[in-house]
This record gives sequence, C-alpha cells and structure tokens, in this order.
Amino acid sequence: MVIKKIKLINFRNYKNLNLKFSDGINIIIGNNAQGKTNILESIYTLALTKSYRTTNDFNLIRTGQEKFIITGDIKVDKVPKKMSIELYNNKKMVKINDNIVRKISDYIGNLVVILSSPEDLNIIKGSPIERRNFLNIEISQKSNIYLKKYNEFNKLLKMRNDYLKLLYTNSIGDYSYLDILTNNLIEREIEIYKYRNDYINDINKYLETIYYDLSDLNSLKMKYITNIDLNEFSDQEIRKQLENKYKKNLQREITLGMTLYGPHRDDFQLIIDNEDIKIYGSQGQQKLAFIALKFAEIKIFEEKSNIKPIILLDDIFSELDKRRKNNLIKYINSDYQTIITSNDIKGINKKIINNAKIFKIYNNSVIEEGGKDGRKDK
Ligand SMILES: Nc1ncnc2c1ncn2[C@@H]1O[C@H](COP(=O)(O)OP(=O)(O)O)[C@@H](O)[C@H]1O
Ligand SMILES: [Mg+2]
Repeated sequence: MVIKKIKLINFRNYKNLNLKFSDGINIIIGNNAQGKTNILESIYTLALTKSYRTTNDFNLIRTGQEKFIITGDIKVDKVPKKMSIELYNNKKMVKINDNIVRKISDYIGNLVVILSSPEDLNIIKGSPIERRNFLNIEISQKSNIYLKKYNEFNKLLKMRNDYLKLLYTNSIGDYSYLDILTNNLIEREIEIYKYRNDYINDINKYLETIYYDLSDLNSLKMKYITNIDLNEFSDQEIRKQLENKYKKNLQREITLGMTLYGPHRDDFQLIIDNEDIKIYGSQGQQKLAFIALKFAEIKIFEEKSNIKPIILLDDIFSELDKRRKNNLIKYINSDYQTIITSNDIKGINKKIINNAKIFKIYNNSVIEEGGKDGRKDK
C-alpha cells in the first residue's frame, strides 16, 4: 500500500499543501515547529479519522478557519483509491472515491499506517488507560469487527454501571435485569479478550527477533495482563470465571457503582529480561522496544493481508545512536513506503539518502528534492 499524494486544506499550519510521495523512503527535514509532524498527523488522521495528538478535533483546523479537508491518493495492489476526510461544524465526513462512508468502521482499515512518534513513550510510561487505547486502535485497524464489538461492549458496560448505581440508591431494583446485562456483557468481554490475546500472541511471534535486529539485544516480550486467568482459553472457561467474579463481588460492585472485572481493566507490559521496561528500561530502550512492537505489527498485517502498511516515523532519529539509526533504516530498506521526519540527516548512510525523497520544510512551505523510486507501485 502506498500514498501517492496528499492534499491539505486548512489543516494545522497548512492553508493549502500538495505533496507527492515516493514509494520508498521519504524524509521530511526542518527546524522545530515548522509543521513536519503535522504532515504525518494528517496522514494518520486520514487513516484513522482522528489524531493521536489531540482529542479535540477542532485543534486540527487552521486557526481562524472553520473547516479542514485532507485528501489522499492511495494505491493498493496497483488499484488507485481516493480517500478524504473533512471536519466542519464539529461533524466529520469521510469519503472513499468521492462516496460518503457513513459508518466509521467501514472506513477505517482502508488506509493502514503504522506510526512511531515521541508520544509512544506516554503509552509505556502512562496509565493502563493509555495502553488499552493503544490496543483498541491497533486491533481495530486490523479488524473492523473488533471495533463494532468493542463499541457494543462499552455500551453494555456503561448500562451495567448505571444500573449498579441505581441498585445502590433503589433497594427494590430488579436483579433479573442486572443478570441480563451481566450475561450480555460477558459475551462481549469474551470476544474482546480473544482479540487482544490473539493480537499479543501474534506480536510475540516476531517481537524478539525484530528487537534483536534493531538493538543487538535479546529477549523482548509483550505480556497481556488481565484480571481473570486466560490460561485455559475457552469461551466456557472465561464465562465461568467472569460469572464467578461478578457473583462474588456483587455487593462491592453495587456499593462502588462500577463493574470491577473485565477487559476495561486490562493492561500489558513490555518485558526485557523478566523486567517491565516501564520501570527498568532506559528511554532509548523503551523507544526501541516500541519501534520493534510497531514492526511486529507490520509483519502480522502483511502475513494476514499480503499488504504492506505505510510506515510513519516521527522524530525517530533524535533518540537513537548512529548504529541504531542505521539498523533501523536497514530494517526498513525500501521495501516499505516510509515517511520520516527529522531535524537533519546527520549520521544516516549516504546510499539511503541518495535513494530517498527529501522534503525541506520552512515557513509553511515545502520544497521537494530527489525521490528515485526504489520500486514500482505496490
Ligand atoms: N490549528 C492550527 N492552526 C495553525 N497553526 C497550527 C495549528 N496547530 C499547530 N499549528 C502550528 O504548527 C506548528 C507545529 O507543527 P509541528 O508539525 O508540530 O512542528 P514540527 O516541525 O516541530 O514537527 C507550530 O508552529 C504551530 O503553531
Ligand atoms: Mg515534530
């Protein structure tokens, strides 16, 4: 999969920007606050309908304007596809080949990007909410069924929590209605557990080797943390465990007005030498571990779909030493369309630079240089 062109209208600092990307490596160079990340953010937003940098979509509209439009020309297996997203009056409209797509879950997945950005460290360092959001985003990019199931799960969870609160204040509440909610919730929870467990197992098939290639160090693992035991992984087993937990903790749940067990309490760890890197890893280790995780995702996606996702690497070089920088580029090769941002290109192998398309960005305008395509359209 490649993105051939992008057009931004009133997105962040860009009034009207048109860029043509190379199918191989693209490097966007510029000083701080010039709008490098904004370009990656626009591609990410085109793919996932929201940004990773803000929860308020309005921030994405250029100051003083009331609407942004992002349009991308995508090619998948030589078939061109036009995608667009616009935000106006707090409403988002997405289109594929100029046709409006009403359900976001039918839209997401058409453009698959893998992003590594400085914000990734917040996922490792932050609270479990951050890591659950991460799981949701990554899995829904691969499966739009997951997103539907997850939304159903969330609705039921909210209904159940509301009903628990009601039972607390209203002692003559209907417990059989709670049972219905609980049973429906459990069915969705089983699905969510399975998707997440599969995702983490898949990641672990590749993670260690990739981490070794990038860092020359051994043994990185992703560990799924749940508040039920997933070892005996059958629907029935999970159902039984959840039923027991809910039965045992009913009074506590009513008092607290919330569901205490389920995937909304999930977490994961990245483990090196049996230690959580959140606690024991250096910043560089954490960064590289997360990149390895992203590359494992690429492998999984490719294995399942035969499609190569687009790689977006924001400010990636600043944290890595020369050897790791070049390990990274060697790993990407020109097999994947990659868009990298950086302040400069110091320390990067000349051969790679010569084959890359360079975008120099200054004062809201972009100059394109070079751009030999290492390969034909994919
Ligand atoms: N909604 C907006 N309207 C206009 N300018 C914006 C908007 N959001 C961000 N900017 C500008 O974008 C610039 C930061 O862009 P960014 O891509 O993060 O820079 P960098 O090149 O450091 O990655 C800042 O100058 C900021 O003022
Ligand atoms: Mg930036």
